[in-house]
Amino acid sequence: MSVPVSVQASPQDRDRIAQLVCGHMATRVVGAAASLGLADLIGSEPVPASELAGALGCHPGALLRLLRAMAALELLTETEAGVFRLTGAGSLLRTDHEDSMHSFVGMTTHPAMLDAWRLLDEAVRAGSTVFDRVFGTDFFRHLGQDGQLSEQFNTAMRQSARIAARVLPSAFDFGRYGTLADIGGGNGTLLSAILAEHPRLRGILFDTPEGIAQARLPRRCERQSGDFFAAVPAGAELYLLKSILHDWDDARSASILDNIRAVIPEHGRLLVVEPVLPEVVEPGESALAYLSDLNMLVNLGGQERTGAEFARLFAGSGFELADVTPLPPARFSLIEAVPV
Ligand SMILES: C[S@@+](CC[C@H](N)C(=O)[O-])C[C@H]1O[C@@H](n2cnc3c(N)ncnc32)[C@H](O)[C@@H]1O
Repeated sequence: MSVPVSVQASPQDRDRIAQLVCGHMATRVVGAAASLGLADLIGSEPVPASELAGALGCHPGALLRLLRAMAALELLTETEAGVFRLTGAGSLLRTDHEDSMHSFVGMTTHPAMLDAWRLLDEAVRAGSTVFDRVFGTDFFRHLGQDGQLSEQFNTAMRQSARIAARVLPSAFDFGRYGTLADIGGGNGTLLSAILAEHPRLRGILFDTPEGIAQARLPRRCERQSGDFFAAVPAGAELYLLKSILHDWDDARSASILDNIRAVIPEHGRLLVVEPVLPEVVEPGESALAYLSDLNMLVNLGGQERTGAEFARLFAGSGFELADVTPLPPARFSLIEAVPV
């Protein structure tokens, strides 16, 4: 089908397309900087490229080119020719920064996250994940088969859970309840932060055996491993799902919700922490949630959802959407649902 084009494109529009298709190169720049451990060698003072090349055993000319690309991408500032210091964004690549994104970058640029993206068009045609076609199994089984990758994934999740861990404990009145179960809670970063602020609350961390392997939990928290498609632990009034439903399509998500509905008491609450997409894409809005949505399609067969889509999903499993509270600066919202 061919249609006449009446929309004018400016030279800036050409730049925009060029920037977008070169985006994968920027991804590689950030990934290489993280895997070389560059940021850890640059303190608060500017450092000459030649010194960094010596410390890292890199080709001096090639490293200088990488550093200049990083400066153009606003991760470094070139204070004088060949001398660099970290910007605020670049400092997040340090492993010792309290908000470090080093492992998050390592995981997001890992072949397990990137390789299936080559088949995005196939995923769009089929409306389903293409991860299995590339790796021969699904994403979480693939993680489960590789201890090192699983640990890297957990660390990356812990780094991205930290912001939510700062805002969620005060965003809901956890003190009114006795026990909170974090379903698919990974290594318990978020649950531990909530329990630390609510001393009378008890916790249940539930995940796969690999998921909870590195959990460090307070004494008020028990850990249980299992499969949330089979059953979830009973005995809590609050059930938390952070970054879980978006991993799965509606049918798989419904089976997790059905299992929670089977054990949640009538006065209980379901707390879902995820991005909520607006009903219509708003001009100037960050593309991150939409890219995450496609990442879910490609790698997991999941999706990000609008408020109306959450409401429909909940209704099918005997829950009613009660409230949605954005949690700035996290890109997530707290979505509350009650059993009906
Ligand atoms: C995207 S991570 C979210 C982790 C954590 N909630 C967070 O936000 O940091 C998804 C979690 O679901 C867990 N998971 C995947 N499949 C599972 C299953 N069938 N049963 C229980 N947990 C599962 C994974 O091990 C992982 O910890």
